[in-house]
Amino acid sequence: MAPTFLPTVSDEKTLRASFVRDEDERPKVAYNFFSNDIPVISLAGLDDDEKVRTEICDKIVAACEDWGIFQVVDHGVDAALVADMTRLARDFFALPPEEKLRFDMSGGKKGGFIVSSHLQGEAVQDWREIVTYFSYPIRARDYSRWPDKPEGWRAFVEAYSEQLMGLACKLLGVLSEAMGLDREALTQACVDMDQKVVVNFYPKCPQPDLTLGLKRHTDPGTITLLLQDQVGGLQATKDGGDTWITVKPVEGAFVVNLGDHGHFLSNGRFKNADHQAVVNSNCSRLSIATFQNPAPDAIVYPLAIREGENPVLDAPITFSEMYRKKMSRDIELAKLKKLAK
Ligand code: SIN
Ligand code: FE2
Repeated sequence: MAPTFLPTVSDEKTLRASFVRDEDERPKVAYNFFSNDIPVISLAGLDDDEKVRTEICDKIVAACEDWGIFQVVDHGVDAALVADMTRLARDFFALPPEEKLRFDMSGGKKGGFIVSSHLQGEAVQDWREIVTYFSYPIRARDYSRWPDKPEGWRAFVEAYSEQLMGLACKLLGVLSEAMGLDREALTQACVDMDQKVVVNFYPKCPQPDLTLGLKRHTDPGTITLLLQDQVGGLQATKDGGDTWITVKPVEGAFVVNLGDHGHFLSNGRFKNADHQAVVNSNCSRLSIATFQNPAPDAIVYPLAIREGENPVLDAPITFSEMYRKKMSRDIELAKLKKLAK
């Protein structure tokens, strides 16, 4: 299916039917009604001082047990690189449609550009454009699917991917220790860790109350590092409930989400953050999500089962099987919902 373009200038006053969500899925909290509930944790001193490390670890563990989501500052990722990444990402989305469509990834192509997530059998579209880079393992890089415009962006994406891989491994080290395991345990459980960078652009929307930038979900992988601008729109719930909060954008911070893989490896101790993105009629929003995933054939099974706990999985499965099951369950649920209408 050829992508249909979102109106990036508000030339349409009402939303096209394909973007209108069922009432129960629509946003309940405004994009800019910010909450301070999600902890903001400084990583300063994490690798230099054992006492500081313990304090930081305790905060991260509490956040993972409560929410599966937290923000990190003083993370060591180069601020100038982050600024260049965001500037060039915005420049990409400002390119004419025909330029962006050179990297169209509909029709099963990996990497490149799409206008929405309707490719995975979803009837209702998300109000967003995305471009994706498969950045790790390095042998998986297909530079022909990486946008060559704006000039120089590729080199920044490579540097950014490398720095974020370092940050992800640091955080996985903390979580491994919290599970009573070696610092390398979670990274090793990912075998040859995959990394995918998804750049999201959410245009201004004529009727933001009726739609979503990205529908409610948990990320399938181990952890996700999200860079968001100061607009706001990322929302989370605690315990998969129906009370939403909008994560307050913090300058220079990364939002860290635990995914399903991280959740299963911890035997459910760490939450897989339930989240969505809402849009607004005032301004466009940009976010860059870096997904740290296990290799497709990595085994998914709890690494640490505490006394009195039962394993949250019946048997070990591969990550690709876990992902396939998740997707087919989502499609099944969507079908049942349609039938019930
Ligand atoms: C995501 O969940 O991948 C992106 C969320 C956001 O853009 O805030
Ligand atoms: Fe997500």
